[in-house]
Amino acid sequence: MGYNVAIDGPAGAGKSTIAKQVAKEKGYIYVDTGAMYRGLAIHFLNKGILPEDKLSVAEAVKDADVEIGYEGGVQQIYLNGENITARLREEAVGNMASLTSSVPEVREKLLQLQKKLAREQDVIMDGRDIGTCVLPDADVKVFLTASVETRAMRRYGELKEKGLSCDLKEIEKDIRERDERDSTREIAPLKRAEDAVLIDSSDMTIDEVAAAITALCK
Ligand code: DC
Repeated sequence: MGYNVAIDGPAGAGKSTIAKQVAKEKGYIYVDTGAMYRGLAIHFLNKGILPEDKLSVAEAVKDADVEIGYEGGVQQIYLNGENITARLREEAVGNMASLTSSVPEVREKLLQLQKKLAREQDVIMDGRDIGTCVLPDADVKVFLTASVETRAMRRYGELKEKGLSCDLKEIEKDIRERDERDSTREIAPLKRAEDAVLIDSSDMTIDEVAAAITALCK
């Protein structure tokens, strides 16, 4: 069994940035589980499936093979052998992932892959249900959050930096909707594990949050 660090929290709380930094410092493998849900979402989009058509989603899962690999230490996602990493952050992909991640067949498929990765190596894994469902016995559990306004501003800054046009109010609305969906779904909702350390990153720098988490790890 590897040493396992679980980081959960809502979209935009800074989980991936922080997890990557801690992984580098401690020599853990960083596993971004959201990217796996996004990988399956691309499969559904490619097939023209509507997210509300849960039966077709459940059926389509059967012919989707999601694999994770690393190139120069950077996580890559493969869908049926094709590297689809470049498409993962598209807005449509994120929305499809949020809408289809409530389908039991989708979760079951990825759960096995996530558990296997954590068994075989030292990982810091981020997502929504890592401390509660995927790795209930993780050595360290963190619930990382930030206010909706802070998370929206961060996302706005990222998009502006890429030269993309965006509207702060729209982003805020999207984040509220995604939070609601992720926290109220029946299976594996976004929720703080009882034994998770709560960190609110609203008024903290990346380095401060990373240092707080590193201090919890062996
Ligand atoms: O973290 P992210 O934005 O890349 O995740 C995309 C979607 O995937 C998110 O809206 C909810 C879902 N997800 C999940 O249900 N469980 C996880 N462990 C990770 C992500």
